[in-house]
Amino acid sequence: MAGVEGRKERWLVLAAWPYVHGVPHLGNLIGSILSADVAARYLRMKGAEVVFVSGSDMHGTPIEVEALKLGVKPEELAERNHERIKKLFERWNISFDNYSKTESETHKRFVREFYEKVYKNGYVFEDVVQLYYCPKDQLFLPDRFVTGTCPYCGYEKAYGDQCENCGRLLEPTLLLNPRCSICGSKPVLKTTKHWFFDLPKLQRALEEYISGNEHLPPNARNMSLQILKEGLKPRALTRDNRWGIPAPFPGAEGKTIYVWMEAVLGYISATIEYFEARGEPERWKEFWLDPSTKSVYFIGKDNIPFHTLILPALLIASGEGYVLPWTVASTEYLLFRGLKFSKSKRVGVWIDEALEVFPVDYWRFALIALRPELRDTNFTWEEFQRVVNNDLIDNIGNFVHRVLVLVQRKFEGRAPEPKGEEGRPLLKELERRFAEISSSMDAFRFKEALSRIVALSSSGNAFLNETKPWELERDRAAGVVHAALHLVKALAIMLYPIIPSSAQRIWELLGYVDSISDHSWSEALEPVPPGQRLPEPKPLFTKISDEDIQAAISKIESLRAGS
Ligand code: MF3
Ligand code: ZN
Repeated sequence: MAGVEGRKERWLVLAAWPYVHGVPHLGNLIGSILSADVAARYLRMKGAEVVFVSGSDMHGTPIEVEALKLGVKPEELAERNHERIKKLFERWNISFDNYSKTESETHKRFVREFYEKVYKNGYVFEDVVQLYYCPKDQLFLPDRFVTGTCPYCGYEKAYGDQCENCGRLLEPTLLLNPRCSICGSKPVLKTTKHWFFDLPKLQRALEEYISGNEHLPPNARNMSLQILKEGLKPRALTRDNRWGIPAPFPGAEGKTIYVWMEAVLGYISATIEYFEARGEPERWKEFWLDPSTKSVYFIGKDNIPFHTLILPALLIASGEGYVLPWTVASTEYLLFRGLKFSKSKRVGVWIDEALEVFPVDYWRFALIALRPELRDTNFTWEEFQRVVNNDLIDNIGNFVHRVLVLVQRKFEGRAPEPKGEEGRPLLKELERRFAEISSSMDAFRFKEALSRIVALSSSGNAFLNETKPWELERDRAAGVVHAALHLVKALAIMLYPIIPSSAQRIWELLGYVDSISDHSWSEALEPVPPGQRLPEPKPLFTKISDEDIQAAISKIESLRAGS
């Protein structure tokens, strides 16, 4: 991707940082990290300079609540889960440049210095407030420590800082029928002092940013405009919790920074850390301080206001000239048989369990095929089986195998010459689909891209059925198989961002010995060189039987029983 003056385009690919009170589930993964990985791999293939970062969101009440339940220190639980999750992401083939954590020294230092600037620039004020306090646990109850009924939508399990049902930002005192999350008792109001982020001062600047940013998808844009229309209110920056990053404001000793207000700065600190580790400590500025950098944030829909309003507000308030989000790619929810994933109710599949029962590329393929791009989408085992068997194996896997076998049988294992007109229609179809698939990928609509890839593979199968190259004499068969083999190569390249290890295997079956990741997206339009030697073909995948699904479900149950 050549940008201005022929220089490579620079992209920041950013994935929402998972809370690490437990292992993420499939819904968490598809919403942020897996989608971001597909984007990062695609943009690298397009020749862009990409930095892809995320990390563990360690502070805040989700971890504290869980640590209390388990009777361990929040720092122990956070660190233990971080190590575990980091390894799991490696097994999921996530191509991070840096997977960091909010306890990293670079992050803590960055956050402190950042807030010193925001404070100096006059965007922080202090105020005495009444907050919920649990007399039984002798604790202030911020954020997830208090639950109650959402005043906007009536959802009964809204958190003190946000309703997960309607996505509204809340304050604990707005909740109806508030309860302490630890003991369930009714909290009392108690006076304390806090530091606030002066969002109303940034109302105008944010209105300009949102209305002037035509890259934001409609769901993010509309939600942000709606919140702006209601008028921004100051938001508390500090908390009384011990677990967190100490607030650097004069007089705020003993207070920590609200988890969201520091975790969103992790995108910058993780980029700094990445370049520090490479021994190029200044290069992060080429990304974050250059207005031509493009950034895309992969987030679930409940994260929208934090990324389209709070983060830009903080970046502006710092006065440092950081690039504001170019776009966010927000997904709706993945549901499990119509229900929200829930550990306690045992609804759903978690990212460690998934890998114990099926190969990683089956999951990556199925999750992208079911990506909740436009509406909430159900994950069911039947859908998983159907998508993998029909689309990945019977359609794509079968096409690849048929073509490779033809090359062995009819052309002694060498890519044939393009002869005659026979292959034309398929190559035309490839060109047309390639343009469509590229535009879906450019818009981060990966589900749409994948369904177009599957349709292209169907065309390949139909083409073989019609032309019957196995019955043709050698020269006419050459034209057909040449085109079909070209399509196999194109499929490998276009599937690479989604199923990288299977794409590499197809690549090697085409007789290449290098890494497919070193090739560019546009090479999908170049044929396999005639005469190239191909190894003996092997089938790529094995189908999932009903018994396999039953076995997977029981295995997951027994894993849970054992943990
Ligand atoms: N941990 C949050 C969640 O799971 C997401 C944080 S995104 C960050 O909803 F940018 F703030 F880190
Ligand atoms: Zn609500």
